[in-house]
Amino acid sequence: MSTSKLLVRILAVGIIQTVIFLTWTSPSIRQAYRLISTEFDGPPTSSHHQNFLPKVLAIYFPQFHADPLNDRLWGANFSDWNNLLAAPAKNKDGFAVPRPLPYKPEIPAHLMGENNVGLGYYDLRSVDIRKRQSELAKLYGIDGFIHHHYWFYDPNYNGPTLHAPLINMLRDGYPDLPFFLNWCAVSWINVWMGRAKWQSRSETINMNKAITLQQQYFNASDAQIRDHYDWLKQFFHHKNYIKVGGAPVFFSYQSRTEMMPILNRLRELAIEDGFPNLYLIIGRGAAPTHLHDRSELTPGMITQMRRRDQPVESFPVEVYNQTMVYPYPAEYINKALAIPNWCKNREKIPPFPDGRNKPEINGIPITFDNTPRREFANANLWNVGPVHEVVERFRTSLKSAITFDACCWHPSHRSDHKQERYVVINAWNEWGEGMALEPSDVYGTQFLEVVKDVKLEVMSLLERNGGLTDDGRCMFVDGDEKVWNFMNDTVEIEPVEQ
Ligand SMILES: *[C@@H]1O[C@H](CO)[C@@H](O)[C@H](O)[C@H]1NC(C)=O
Ligand SMILES: *[C@@H]1O[C@H](CO)[C@@H](O)[C@H](O)[C@H]1NC(C)=O
Ligand SMILES: *[C@@H]1O[C@H](CO)[C@@H](O)[C@H](O)[C@H]1NC(C)=O
Ligand SMILES: *[C@@H]1O[C@H](CO)[C@@H](O)[C@H](O)[C@H]1NC(C)=O
Repeated sequence: MSTSKLLVRILAVGIIQTVIFLTWTSPSIRQAYRLISTEFDGPPTSSHHQNFLPKVLAIYFPQFHADPLNDRLWGANFSDWNNLLAAPAKNKDGFAVPRPLPYKPEIPAHLMGENNVGLGYYDLRSVDIRKRQSELAKLYGIDGFIHHHYWFYDPNYNGPTLHAPLINMLRDGYPDLPFFLNWCAVSWINVWMGRAKWQSRSETINMNKAITLQQQYFNASDAQIRDHYDWLKQFFHHKNYIKVGGAPVFFSYQSRTEMMPILNRLRELAIEDGFPNLYLIIGRGAAPTHLHDRSELTPGMITQMRRRDQPVESFPVEVYNQTMVYPYPAEYINKALAIPNWCKNREKIPPFPDGRNKPEINGIPITFDNTPRREFANANLWNVGPVHEVVERFRTSLKSAITFDACCWHPSHRSDHKQERYVVINAWNEWGEGMALEPSDVYGTQFLEVVKDVKLEVMSLLERNGGLTDDGRCMFVDGDEKVWNFMNDTVEIEPVEQ
């Protein structure tokens, strides 16, 4: 059936509900708590589960504590805070570089209010900080964290680094949010403070040369991979570890051919360990496929995009269960994400590429300013500007991504695992790149407020429009996201072309 025929049919059966204009009032904290996922694993609770919001996960950066490797390379107690503390007040465009609001431990967390949300220049080994991070994250509707996992297969340095916060989490339970690990399986290039320099691995570690710390070494022995698995499994068995159908989710933000044997072996070891499988997600360096209007790109932007974006097809479908658009700032498109016209107009859903059978996960950077880690003039800036504009652009992007996931796919695109549906925010606390949901002296709690408001807004739309139907797609009218119509579940959907 053509799109126009489909639309005629929809109109003919008179099932378009009255257009509902959203009026939004600030939600209470109680409402916000309603948004926190209680079930991450386990069977779907109802036939309507597919219509729920995607889980909103935030990437959690561990580098705020002393670490033996950093001590050796950069001096005692070096952490990423050193970079922020040494950074100028303003970036090259004259906008303030955000800093954390002060931490006031004397005020109990449950009295957290406008004046007591700061976390300061914390040490992530502290349980009090990780506890308060959890409280903040839950208060504002963050469903879980993605923790960076640094593990090197390097003869000079085999094993984990920057892992103290994770190990402490195993002991004391905080952050007590659902989580999975992101294996940062790339060479570690030292770029702190603009001192980056490519250097061969044979050169000895020398702080003054700002060397490449470790190359990943992918001729791994079985014993090395077992060591890795034995370290990972303490997390995989953790009650908060996110699983899909019982399989621990293991994410890697970059793909290298040399990784495949390791991933396949880790999968086998997980199965030997009693898990049904590993659920492997790979990060794709790209702008979200559907959330930019590419027709508006200039030829110059398209050239940039082609040069930088990794195509979906480059990730072997037999290895990876799902791809994620890794949220990096695509400077060739400095505008908010938008719901695609095919969804708004209820046109045919584009087929998935190349044998893939589920939607890609979308990631969203909040704003980006790596002045703390670069020489002043070399900083990359993205969605940086007047506070109100930055916040509103993030709001539009997040709302587009959540609405897209909740409304644009047909249930036949989804398996029974609601854990496969995420929107990922970069980041919870990447302060060295000016990219933190955590409260700052520039943005206060505005980014967190956006997360809470957008989730409630989309959920309230779904609820108001006759609840959650089996159809699961929504309809947009007049191209205005705030004007909304929810599809009646008797509509016949065209089969998806594969
Ligand atoms: C590093 O931190 C430890 C513990 O906080 C402290 O005892 C030590 O003096 C610090 N060293 C330097 C060089 O700052
Ligand atoms: C991995 O092993 C192959 C074959 O033995 C060898 O040619 C290659 O140089 C090794 N790679 C590294 C990074 O050592
Ligand atoms: C994940 O991928 C593996 C390997 O292709 C496959 O065996 C498994 O069924 C997949 N899991 C899900 C939930 O799709
Ligand atoms: C769907 O459409 C039918 C027929 O027009 C109507 O009776 C029913 O109430 C609608 N359902 C919803 C959830 O709007």
